[in-house]
Amino acid sequence: MILTKDTKIFDVTDPASRDAGEGLALGGEILRRGGLVAFPTETVYGLGANALDRDAVVSIYAAKGRPSDNPLICHIADLEDLKQLTGEIPERARKLAEKFWPGPLTMVLPKLPNVPNETTGGLSTVAVRMPDEPAALELIRRAGCPVAAPSANLSGCPSPTKGSHVVGDLMGRVDVILTGKDCRVGIESTVLDLTGDVPAVLRPGILTPEEIEEVLGEKVIYDPAILPPPAGMVPDGSGPAPRAPGMKYTHYAPKAEMLIFQGPEAAVEAEICRRKSENEAAGRKVGVLFFGEESFAEAAHDFFAKLREMDDEEVDLILAAALDSGNSVGFAVMNRMLKSAGYNVITVD
Ligand code: TXA
Ligand code: MG
Repeated sequence: MILTKDTKIFDVTDPASRDAGEGLALGGEILRRGGLVAFPTETVYGLGANALDRDAVVSIYAAKGRPSDNPLICHIADLEDLKQLTGEIPERARKLAEKFWPGPLTMVLPKLPNVPNETTGGLSTVAVRMPDEPAALELIRRAGCPVAAPSANLSGCPSPTKGSHVVGDLMGRVDVILTGKDCRVGIESTVLDLTGDVPAVLRPGILTPEEIEEVLGEKVIYDPAILPPPAGMVPDGSGPAPRAPGMKYTHYAPKAEMLIFQGPEAAVEAEICRRKSENEAAGRKVGVLFFGEESFAEAAHDFFAKLREMDDEEVDLILAAALDSGNSVGFAVMNRMLKSAGYNVITVD
């Protein structure tokens, strides 16, 4: 793609500032006219287009550098706006919205015919969320339409959690970039499918199934598709390993090779140290990802940013310690870590 767009950048950290005022006004107008605006949310930065304008939605993928029929999340600023996407508001959705919106919860619901196939990947359902970030909400209000937005990274790069990540990836590719504070959450929203009998988490996030269960008063399951592949499928990163087709995800990947170590903490630490020395002795630059002292929420907050830092430092090999997947937030970070590492997991004991 030729970088032809004259991208305008505005700092919306303080929504009351003059720069923010100008950026939000222009951003809203650009979205209404079918253009592309990147904006901060509490989870990761989004690359937005008018969700009801099929050409605008298609252009998101040209900007990200890949063709796609993936379904996108529609961002709204007011609960009543849900009605233009889904018709009525189902009881469960209303309960959850009242408790968790604005916030890192995306709900999948049956859609109205006016929501284009380009937005929903041809599905009969639509994913919707209300982001918990004042500038994002103001942008959506100014646009006057639901805003479809995947993460604002180039295809193949980790999701952006800082304004500088977005500027680095999307300069010349979008009309407006709104930069703000670093994203508070750091991983993408929890996606919850409310179209079946049992509510199912399709993508784990900082908002856990337990928190959702408490509000709904009923069981919430993880979709089996997000449970990690059986341990031992890719047993060792030392040689070419068999991989199931489609198992190698690239969309969270750092440039470096990445290995995950799981097992007792001391053994993991020892193995990471050993491999670090060994690889450094062989002239490779090694980065270590170890969230030992941090909370799971801190690990979520830092995860993508650390991958990008290591890319900037031109690390050749990333050695990562697995997080406890028994914790729901740990599981959500592990979901990203496994994809980043192409499921290269090494068990030590
Ligand atoms: O935190 C977030 O959700 C960020 C920020 C920008 O809001 N957005 C984001 O959007 O991650 P995106 O488009 O990259 O994520 C869409 C996710 C995918 O996992 C997709 O499969 C799922 O939502 N999804 C979207 N529409 C769906 C549908 N109709 N049915 C099932 N899954 C859907
Ligand atoms: Mg993404």
